[in-house]
Amino acid sequence: MTKYLLKQGTLISATGRQVADLIIDNGKIAKIGSNLTALSAYEINCDGLLILPGMIDTHVHFRDPGLTHKADAATESLAALAGGVTTICDMPNTKPQTTTIPLVKEKQQLYATKCLCDFGIYLGAAKDNLEELKRADEDNTIPAVKIFMAESTGEMTLSEDEYLKPIFAQTRKLLLVHAENEARRLHRIEQFRQGKLKEAMGMAPNDPYLHGIVRDNKVASQGTKHAVELALAAKHRMHVLHVSAREEFPFLRQGLDAGLVTSETCPQYLWFTREDTKVHGLYRIMNPALKGEADRAALWEALQTGLISQVATDHAPHLPEEKDLGYGKGPSGLPGVQFVLPLLLAKAQEGELTLEQVVQLTSFNPAQNFQIENKGQLAEGFDADIAIINPNASAMIHADMVKSKCGWTPYEGVLLNGGLVEKTFVRGELKFNRHSDFKVSMLPGKTITVRL
Ligand code: DOR
Ligand code: ZN
Repeated sequence: MTKYLLKQGTLISATGRQVADLIIDNGKIAKIGSNLTALSAYEINCDGLLILPGMIDTHVHFRDPGLTHKADAATESLAALAGGVTTICDMPNTKPQTTTIPLVKEKQQLYATKCLCDFGIYLGAAKDNLEELKRADEDNTIPAVKIFMAESTGEMTLSEDEYLKPIFAQTRKLLLVHAENEARRLHRIEQFRQGKLKEAMGMAPNDPYLHGIVRDNKVASQGTKHAVELALAAKHRMHVLHVSAREEFPFLRQGLDAGLVTSETCPQYLWFTREDTKVHGLYRIMNPALKGEADRAALWEALQTGLISQVATDHAPHLPEEKDLGYGKGPSGLPGVQFVLPLLLAKAQEGELTLEQVVQLTSFNPAQNFQIENKGQLAEGFDADIAIINPNASAMIHADMVKSKCGWTPYEGVLLNGGLVEKTFVRGELKFNRHSDFKVSMLPGKTITVRL
């Protein structure tokens, strides 16, 4: 394997920064220090560049297998690498859905042939697979179990306590919860049909703005309340996915203080509000729905205070022709894996976050929350998963830049003025290079392991 000596980069960790040399050997960070030399290593001058741990995006939908007309593990992992993401964890709403361990293993084998970054494959909860979930407790290649507590892409809804309670009580693996209240969501749809939903009087059933009215703040907060109650009652570790509403915070606080609950938000909830659906229609529709400006502002604050400890993308690519079917017919979800890290760096440039906080949110905390081995830190002995950033390079996001198969991005027109990804290494292999000074490797990634 190629050895690299990264000279004089500014290493950003979760707690500080230092100018240092870094040696990559045999896939690992072999040494960090000053005036290092390494025999037969490729030397890369990193003077003036930032060196970050590669992002760990614990929430993506790469659509592989079965939905590869939208996206596949090869295209989406390339998008990830171009954005400095070195590990992804894929959700179970593929075709087939990964609701058994053999199906997870098959998907792991598939990704081991075509996903260019490292990966984790989640097991999905279903009405009839409790025994399978229990068996997964012993499997350190399965990072977590996903529960869709409300309807979303893929029809995996599991909203009733008769299914949820035994999962919380009888399994031990980290539970990832899509926390929306399905009963309230259904009730509001029914009210709308009967012309009784006050906020939606006179609205057409295909008006995309209706999405945020149906899936309102209370749908989110009641979902999170219920999920946190289940976790506290069973003393079960849980991670709340895609926090979107400020009313979820008291429950997240309660769960965090009990040492049981962590959470993430996604770039779409940090950059957009439901008003954007008036202009962009289905291209701003996802589950949970976008909320108001007060929520958007509160989410930034929650990242700063540490209440929400991760940013993950919920990268959910759909084709434009699917989105163009319109509200009620077209699918929910937005792509995000390629731009999340540069977007956060742009916010750091504006002073909204420190670079150390960006590292906490994108690599250090995901590795801690999910107990991922050997990743998430620039430290000797850790996997050499690294994003090299040029803080002086900038670009306006344009559809031309999109590597994802869907070919579009909701962030078109946003200025990335906090730096661009120059090079991305996964376990010491150079996998993305914005320039042609070094050849990139097309070796596939490997499954991650977690501490049991
Ligand atoms: O908007 C969403 N899209 N939310 C989800 O929960 C699933 C995702 C998808 O898979 O498209
Ligand atoms: Zn998702």
